[in-house]
Amino acid sequence: MDDRTPLSSLDEWEDDLKRRYPEPDSESESGAALAQKKKPAEFRNYRAEARASVKEFYRLNHRHQTLDFVRQKRAEYLPLAKRTMGIWEALEFLNTLVDDSDPDTDFSQIEHCLQTAEAIRRDGHPRWFILTGLLHDLGKILCLFGEPQWAVVGDTFPVGCAYSQKIVFAEFFADNPDAGVPEYQTATGIYGARCGLANVLMSWGHDEYLYHVAKDYLPEEGLYMIRYHSCYPIHREREYGHLMNEHDEKMFRWVRKFSPYDLYTKSHERPDVAALRPYYEDLAAEFFPDQVRW
Ligand SMILES: [Fe+2]
Ligand SMILES: [Fe+2]
Repeated sequence: MDDRTPLSSLDEWEDDLKRRYPEPDSESESGAALAQKKKPAEFRNYRAEARASVKEFYRLNHRHQTLDFVRQKRAEYLPLAKRTMGIWEALEFLNTLVDDSDPDTDFSQIEHCLQTAEAIRRDGHPRWFILTGLLHDLGKILCLFGEPQWAVVGDTFPVGCAYSQKIVFAEFFADNPDAGVPEYQTATGIYGARCGLANVLMSWGHDEYLYHVAKDYLPEEGLYMIRYHSCYPIHREREYGHLMNEHDEKMFRWVRKFSPYDLYTKSHERPDVAALRPYYEDLAAEFFPDQVRW
């Protein structure tokens, strides 16, 4: 374990999310309703039982995700000049991510992407929604560009304003240099009240990066899903309403519709990648050009 890879695999973060937000037993009980019913003691258990690797991951994330860091990464990546790849090629590229997960029992990245997409397809959702499921984690290729885990995954949150105390392990923000900048520590910080999330800088990771890759090609509902699917402080904890406008509120209904497919579709059967490929290549071609800038 070093400072760049405290987690044995990126999936360890997502497994931990499932522990924090367990799948509701009955379909009538939504995850959000369940989270609200959760007693404070259960949240304390979540914290006490978090693995050392996960805690260390959040410690690094909260310490290093400063406003300056986010601006630097945006300047580096948002010109989308790293490479050009088709969608399926990008999935195969993501699949080359080597970590300490066990290939016999754990699913590959491409299998995860297909599991999410197939669950959305089974429920009869529109084609753009299915494609969004397939793509939503492609931003994890940031790891292959050399980014440390804490700059690729983890719950995202606004930077340049006060940290919500409902962000997991919020106490680790004490080590973030921005905690000592009074201008960044008011509720709205460098932003205006209800300015809209499009004007708010989020901690850097796979969500924001992929949003910029996909933004000319998918419907806005899908783009919100991609851009905010890791923003548990907003879509699950309902924080930061004071930075959102009415349009954000409306669009977050789609983020919430997407979230269960992201969290709870990973443990079922192994998808047949070769058999599914033609369907998903056609679907990608419906929305994206052959070559996309990354
Ligand atoms: Fe993700
Ligand atoms: Fe995901």
